[in-house]
Amino acid sequence: MPGIALVGTQWGDEGKGKVTHLMADQMDMVVRYSGGNNAGHTVIVGEETFKLHLLPAGILYSHIVPVIGPGVVVDPKVLLDEMDRLEARGVSTSRLVISSNAHVIMPYHRELDALIERRLGKLKLGTTKRGIGPAYSDKASRIGIRIQDLLDPKIFMAKLEINLREKNLLLTKIYGRLPMKMDAILEEYLGFADRLTPHITDTVTVVHEALEAGKNVLFEGAQGTMLDLDHGTYPFVTSSNPVAGGLCAGAGVGPKAVDRIIGVTKAYVTRVGEGPFPSEDRGSDGLEMVNRGKEYGATTGRQRRCGWFDAVIGRYATRLNSLTEIFLTKVDVLSSFDTIKICTAYEYNGQKYENFPPHQTIFHKAKPIFEEMPGWRTDISGARTWDDLPEKAQNYIRRLEELCDVPVTDISVGPEATETVARRG
Ligand code: GDP
Ligand code: IMO
Ligand code: MG
Repeated sequence: MPGIALVGTQWGDEGKGKVTHLMADQMDMVVRYSGGNNAGHTVIVGEETFKLHLLPAGILYSHIVPVIGPGVVVDPKVLLDEMDRLEARGVSTSRLVISSNAHVIMPYHRELDALIERRLGKLKLGTTKRGIGPAYSDKASRIGIRIQDLLDPKIFMAKLEINLREKNLLLTKIYGRLPMKMDAILEEYLGFADRLTPHITDTVTVVHEALEAGKNVLFEGAQGTMLDLDHGTYPFVTSSNPVAGGLCAGAGVGPKAVDRIIGVTKAYVTRVGEGPFPSEDRGSDGLEMVNRGKEYGATTGRQRRCGWFDAVIGRYATRLNSLTEIFLTKVDVLSSFDTIKICTAYEYNGQKYENFPPHQTIFHKAKPIFEEMPGWRTDISGARTWDDLPEKAQNYIRRLEELCDVPVTDISVGPEATETVARRG
């Protein structure tokens, strides 16, 4: 069964959108399985740039069935706006299918996301404020509202009422805000339902029928391994499971449905939001990466924090996702450096850690142990084959695959689709 997984191996923004675009020709279906509109995937098709948040990047291709799986949290307003914007640019969204089991982001989730962040003060997570955490909390608490509930106004009203009773207490008594009005939400959301109805279905059957028919199905990850709720830098994580394992629950397939697991990996590391980041460079090198890599978030526009490649999290990601290969992106960004550093281990309290430390405090306080490699100092954006790359760049890539213990099969040397090296040998 030709299922292929695409996962981010770092803190998101590794270039997953570009990789989906490159693979689109061979795909029949693209499935989002976790997260929501906290994602921002950039896809450059010819002269046009698309930034997709909730829709799978597969939506851009008329031969692909785009799927929003049960593990995604859906803000219907954002979804419809995104669909409208694509339609206005001539992209048909009629093929989109949305799982009836996916959970809905409600206005109180968005508001609570912002209020919780404010309450946390210095300890804030730096969320995207899209309501992701509160929506997944309600899902786990079993009071969430699902897409299918929108189809039955009576059920939707009953669930909304139960939720608002609690949320309005929270909003007014804890946070000193105004309560939310039932009627306004009802009217707005039932309006969304009218438009979404033709797209809502049992996506598990849709995905399995495609797999059984031998179609190529791409599971498009959002976020990244280190933002995983269970395996990332908790609590500075998102509220879902971006790791490859998350696609089983989030799309409704078993592990055997996938036979390639591609880890999209930046040649350095970036992070948006708060949280530990041992190989971060807060000096001129980090700034050089921001500027050359245009490291500003596709969702919130925040400047991304930048640092050197971290092979500890690289190896961790290889294991957590059972990666079969790495798609290495943004290698061109490093072309201006005389010396390139790689974090190979951490040091804390006189002890060396080659694996992800078992305690968050260690990760917080870990000092990176760097090895250095000479930079290639030449523009590589025109490289199209392995042999076009300077030897020093080849050596850097070989060293990364050795440290991460998985082959680097493709190398991206610029944002455009053509700026890619498929590695042979
Ligand atoms: P995603 O969330 O993983 O899809 O990644 P984002 O779209 O948020 O961020 C990746 C950014 O890097 C986008 O602006 C891409 O256009 C850009 N990009 C992707 N690959 C490359 C590359 O190899 N080189 C450069 N310079 N930019 C790239
Ligand atoms: P893509 O798919 C980068 C980060 C936020 C914050 C943390 C929690 O484009 O790679 P949330 O709103 O999810 O509760 O925020 O997770 N975050 C991302 N960072 N890329 C993303 O998605 C992200 N999605 C969430 O910045 O630190
Ligand atoms: Mg992104």
